[in-house]
Amino acid sequence: MILNTELEYKGNLFPSKIISYKKDVDTLYFTSDNGVVLQVTVERDSVLRFRFTTTSIFENDFSYAISQYASKGFNKLEVSEDDENYILTTSKLICHISKLDMRTSIFDAKDKTLISQDELGFHWEESHEYGGDIVKMSKSTFDGESYYGLGDKPVQNNLKGKRFENWVTDSYAFGRTTDPIYKTIPFFIGLHHKKAYGIFFDNTFRSFFDFCHERRNIASFWAQGGEMNYYFIYGPNMSDVVSNYTDLTGKLQNLPPLWALGYHQCKWSYYPESKVKEVTKKFRELKIPCDAIYLDIDYMDGFRCFTWNKEYFPDPKRMVKELAEDGFKTIVIIDPGIKIDKDYSVYQEGLEKDYFCKRADGPYMKGKVWPGECYFPDFTNPEVREWWSNLFKELIEDIGVKGVWNDMNEPAVMDVPGKTFPNDVRHNYDGNHSSHRKAHNVYGMQMARATYHGLKKFSYPKRPFVITRSAYSGTQRYTSTWTGDNVASWEHLSIANAQAQRMCMSGFSFVGSDIGGFAEQPNGELFTRWIQLGVFHPFCRTHSSGDHGDQEPYAFDSNVTNIVRKFIEIRYQLLPYLYTAFWRYANEGIPILKSLVLFDQQDSHTHYRNDEFIFGEKILVCPILEPNAKGRRMYFPRGNWFSFWDDELVKGGEEKWVDADIDSLPIYIKEGAIIPKYPVQQYVGEKTIDELKLDVYYKLGKEKSQVYEDAHDGYDYKKGRYSLRNFTFVGKKDAVIIQQYKSGKFITEYDTFQLNLHGLPFKIEKIMVDSEEFDMKKLIIKDNTLIVSKEFTDIKILGKK
Ligand code: GLC
Repeated sequence: MILNTELEYKGNLFPSKIISYKKDVDTLYFTSDNGVVLQVTVERDSVLRFRFTTTSIFENDFSYAISQYASKGFNKLEVSEDDENYILTTSKLICHISKLDMRTSIFDAKDKTLISQDELGFHWEESHEYGGDIVKMSKSTFDGESYYGLGDKPVQNNLKGKRFENWVTDSYAFGRTTDPIYKTIPFFIGLHHKKAYGIFFDNTFRSFFDFCHERRNIASFWAQGGEMNYYFIYGPNMSDVVSNYTDLTGKLQNLPPLWALGYHQCKWSYYPESKVKEVTKKFRELKIPCDAIYLDIDYMDGFRCFTWNKEYFPDPKRMVKELAEDGFKTIVIIDPGIKIDKDYSVYQEGLEKDYFCKRADGPYMKGKVWPGECYFPDFTNPEVREWWSNLFKELIEDIGVKGVWNDMNEPAVMDVPGKTFPNDVRHNYDGNHSSHRKAHNVYGMQMARATYHGLKKFSYPKRPFVITRSAYSGTQRYTSTWTGDNVASWEHLSIANAQAQRMCMSGFSFVGSDIGGFAEQPNGELFTRWIQLGVFHPFCRTHSSGDHGDQEPYAFDSNVTNIVRKFIEIRYQLLPYLYTAFWRYANEGIPILKSLVLFDQQDSHTHYRNDEFIFGEKILVCPILEPNAKGRRMYFPRGNWFSFWDDELVKGGEEKWVDADIDSLPIYIKEGAIIPKYPVQQYVGEKTIDELKLDVYYKLGKEKSQVYEDAHDGYDYKKGRYSLRNFTFVGKKDAVIIQQYKSGKFITEYDTFQLNLHGLPFKIEKIMVDSEEFDMKKLIIKDNTLIVSKEFTDIKILGKK
């Protein structure tokens, strides 16, 4: 007789002792007495994947995050055992798996130091509500351990002492303590004893991370469903951890067109056409460089995606063309909600083809967004993505729009408690049918992916440009991103700084904030300080809700306009430098911004620094984050740094006061650096680059720099039509040697370099260019400037102390 029909609540459950073990090429399987299987795969010598099942059978192995191009292969895999452990050894790691309970410990193979150790290790709770398990992992914290990463969390760099949730959420006017917000990047970096490792928990359910918040010496992570499935990525250099994570989840599939690195102007909303033209005209009149102008939701007919409001924009094709003639690329917003309207073709087609998301029992998922009641395409269905990508044909191919901005793709739903779909909504999940609990965090990513494919197709032979608000790990392959609806406040300026740095160390470098703040209105000073930071972010766009007044660089006073212009001009001059950083990011996964800890983890002063960062490889920037500042204290990382403004030399490794009145910002160049510069242009391509300026900064010693160039758009660079200049600088007491090694088939338009030598400790007496004596009459002595052929391989600058 059955007395109790309720399922028993068993609390936390743990694997018991291992009873069998098998090896299949790169993967080891351990089975416990109570039916848990641990699968350990050696992805690379420094990357191990751990997967657990409690039912003895694994789910279909499918991930939206992992790139098909992720590097695989290792040099060594040995498995041995002692009384207590199975021992797996690669050339970088030694992993112990306890025979008693499957707990793991990971050591550096070289010096045998312990890097990571399970506390409780894998454990789980049965989910009676949804079936499956709530999967959990806890690890011990080491002395002095710091934690970093997790995408867009709006807090200080070091995450120690905090707990976070991952569930992408529309978060208008979020603050320091708002969690979760727009993105889910379940990847963190641990750093202790100057060694760094990363953990990527590839689970799309609502997940949580606790870094010594609940318990002092414990870091844990768990998810409300799915598998315990994580990658352990060893450094010991933090930058290797980040680039290996980026390799795993994917690098930019193509470089952005150079214009996308220019300045972008946006507002909710510029309409009608005359208003758009008024703004673009003003930029040109005032000579404020700008490459892109955005149309927010009001360009559409009743907020129906892929339509135009013909009253405001009677002839979009003509307008877009005219804007293009003036150097402006038009970017339009596209949201996921499709208005329920039987006369609207996108709606009709979606309905006919059965492409909209449905609730558990079959009705459509109906939700309110800007257009009113909407249905939502299921972007986790490959057929829907294909359909969606084809919807861009007219916008891109015919009208000439150059970029698409995907918003509200968490997906955001208005006037409902969770601000999104209910859990029971069904998704295709690329054939792995799921509920919204599993698909929520990737919905926006799949929308951006479909958009990217549409743009790629219809922009061809030019490169696509997409920007998304919501993202899951791996979204960086397809699109750029911004940090959502921030606020025009000083606190938010500092949040923007933290978020951009954190996104970069979480594999997603093409990022920026709404400059000046989306909600509310900045004063001229705040706007100026924000521009000064924003021009050093990989994505640089002013955007505002428009409810609180104008936010163009000229909307304040002429002093603001002049300073803002000056800083945007600096960005345009630095475009070849930034483009090189993008190339490095796309090729090697090296973040475009580096928090100081990423730049020099050996210096423990950097572990808790937040404000200063390295832009690219060689430029140190420290934003001014307070009103009425005439300067601030900042930390200089080890090494010597030259002031960008006056070449003053600063010795690093300490905190110092730096002056920075409203028209200035602390910017410093690493000694030995060679910084390429283009002339100021009002937009990319306005001028022919007839000379490349190279600012060369002296160092006693050696330093390498690179300059990457190509056609700035198109795909020829993938066929070898690029120009990569590798420079080696060697500085002695009375001489400087600069060597150049070039690769790639692209021929730049310019023939010469203008070399500016900064900080030379000697007077130049003689210059040899490729063993020929340089005519000293041609040296501009005042600022040590000389013009040389771009083909030089070796320059010797000789002097007397
Ligand atoms: C959302 C976006 C914002 C946009 C607005 C209207 O709030 O985050 O950038 O301007 O919607 O489309």
